[in-house]
Amino acid sequence: MIEVRELEKRYHKLVAVAGISFKVDRGEVLGFLGPNGAGKTTTMRILTGALPATSGRVEVAGFNVFDRPLEVKRRVGYLPETPPLYNDLDTLGYLRFAGRIKGLRGRRLRAALQRSIDACGIGEVTGRLLGNLSKGFRQRVGLAQALLGEPEVLVLDEPTIGLDPNQIQEIRRLIHELAADRTVVLSTHILPEVVQICSRVVIIHRGRIVADDSLQNLTSDSRSLEQTFHDLTQQ
Ligand SMILES: Nc1ncnc2c1ncn2[C@@H]1O[C@H](COP(=O)(O)OP(=O)(O)OP(=O)(O)O)[C@@H](O)[C@H]1O
Ligand SMILES: [Mg+2]
Repeated sequence: MIEVRELEKRYHKLVAVAGISFKVDRGEVLGFLGPNGAGKTTTMRILTGALPATSGRVEVAGFNVFDRPLEVKRRVGYLPETPPLYNDLDTLGYLRFAGRIKGLRGRRLRAALQRSIDACGIGEVTGRLLGNLSKGFRQRVGLAQALLGEPEVLVLDEPTIGLDPNQIQEIRRLIHELAADRTVVLSTHILPEVVQICSRVVIIHRGRIVADDSLQNLTSDSRSLEQTFHDLTQQ
């Protein structure tokens, strides 16, 4: 469903992503891990067509991201690290706008809005201005936006950051449910979250992949994911 080959991204002299390759199959939930500055957000932005690469190839749902960005954007729900919420729109107005951009209209749009709003528990803030929402609710609105139209692929950059403990569980459950017939790539610094919802793990360190394996193979009774992560991203 996603194929990344020799992907490189340089910001002037800084090599943020140094030629990485990996695949994600349909129905997989890939945990994309790495220390701060490892290149996770950069990679995810490239996967969704939000950022051009320096070199390499990325295919999502059979489309080359660089040649067919619109086809890719139509099939990918993306929760950016900082969701670009328009502070002077209210929640419903913003989601309606986001849904229209994804090509939803009329009854399909209304149904999609309702599903996303219910799934993310934001029914009580639909009439409020985004600029006045708390951090956690802003995050939920960002997630609701990503889920609109039930995209085949979800790319979620730290989806549970800023949420309260109840909502964290809700959202994890939701991602788990969604993954039954979708492909999910998510980044997080919360390793128990990975254990709970991911089937596969890619660990990136200084722009290079240092692990790509099933969660099962990366952990064992005597070795936690924390230890593996620590060992692979030390220097
Ligand atoms: N627009 C930019 N211009 C210059 N450098 C950038 C830009 N965006 C990211 N970088 C650099 O690229 C590297 C990778 O950053 P990236 O945001 O992808 O890391 P990350 O793995 O998402 O980190 P975090 O866990 O802190 O979110 C960092 O050194 C960062 O400073
Ligand atoms: Mg990041």
